[in-house]
Amino acid sequence: MERKPTGFSTLAVHGGETRDKEHSPLTMPIYQTATYTFQDTAALHAFFRGETERIAEYGRYGNPTQNAAERKLAALENAEAALLFSSGMNAVTTAILAICKKGDHIVITNDSYRRTRQFIRQTLAKFGIVFDFVDPTAEAIANAIRADTKLLISESPTNPYLRVLDLEAVVSVCKEKKVKTLIDSTFATPYNQRPLEFGIDLVVHSVTKYLGGHNDILGGALLGKQFFIDAIKELQAVMGGILDAHSCYLLLRGLKTFALRMEKQNSNAMEVSQFLESHPKVERVFYPGLPSHPDYKIAKEQMSGFGGVISFQIKGGLEEGSRFIDSLKIPQIAPSLGGVESLIEQPALMSYYELTTEEREAIGIYDNLIRLSLGIEDAEDIIADLKQGLEKI
Ligand SMILES: Cc1ncc(COP(=O)(O)O)c(C=O)c1O
Repeated sequence: MERKPTGFSTLAVHGGETRDKEHSPLTMPIYQTATYTFQDTAALHAFFRGETERIAEYGRYGNPTQNAAERKLAALENAEAALLFSSGMNAVTTAILAICKKGDHIVITNDSYRRTRQFIRQTLAKFGIVFDFVDPTAEAIANAIRADTKLLISESPTNPYLRVLDLEAVVSVCKEKKVKTLIDSTFATPYNQRPLEFGIDLVVHSVTKYLGGHNDILGGALLGKQFFIDAIKELQAVMGGILDAHSCYLLLRGLKTFALRMEKQNSNAMEVSQFLESHPKVERVFYPGLPSHPDYKIAKEQMSGFGGVISFQIKGGLEEGSRFIDSLKIPQIAPSLGGVESLIEQPALMSYYELTTEEREAIGIYDNLIRLSLGIEDAEDIIADLKQGLEKI
């Protein structure tokens, strides 16, 4: 039997790409078109009867550049199918709307992306979908499941404390209770963890982060079994949140170096987290690759790398944190993560700006918390920069 390449980097470069393309370009062309023509009415009949290979009749239903990017993502995640969206949030919201109906109950872990929580709390509540927030553990999830629970949503690792779910235990609990499982795997990426292989039903990514990898596109993806993705695609055709062909091309291009980038981001974060943990001005470091992290054991079993994001608390408060960050020469202040440039932020001043210190503390966001997303710069340079910055506290 012919040997199929399975290496991650080989799949990142060649996965999903057709070897022969019209006019023989090496790279996938950008099909910049809103619609597709039919040679004659017989061709139209043949298309709607499913007798031809063509992708779609209109741009909202598909595009060859988009399909190539989806095939590559599916190859990397070991998924039957993938579907791209205009943003990570669009992928999350469309998936939930496709799965849940009035009267359903959702269990969601409380460390999830704040806009996902906001969608469930504010928007879905208006449509009679109810929810419970729980700690990111299989036990807390099991305790929250009710007869009407339809869906479990969690990240793994979560943001900002990088909690790692025991996926095997979660799948076992949810399968028994017939609850669908959706994991936001943005922080892990398929390089470090592939939840579908544990039996999770659906994976979501903000491809804005590691998969795009260059801080230049917004996009989202859902991955899972073909029938599930097909059903969600039906709703996407109505909701309209597709990823445009040019962004799909940038995603394809970014993915070719994905394995190389991840390797460097994993190792940068490991080295920097060890440095931070040993520094006297740092109170606590949250990184699942450190033995001090509460989920270190499960992360080691379940993940092949721990990602490029580190959260840490400095000795001080908001002002000391700002002084530290303002003195840095390499990481820049910005939300987002996963790209080749290192980014840093004080969550209290970025995602939770409008809250008071007391309100933030009530949801576990402390004034001395810093989140650092490592890029692909050299670890020695980043560490030297952080060191001089910490001296300014
Ligand atoms: C874990 C996680 N999921 C989803 C999203 C939303 O993705 P996007 O910004 O591409 O809509 C983000 C964005 O920060 C995120 O961090």
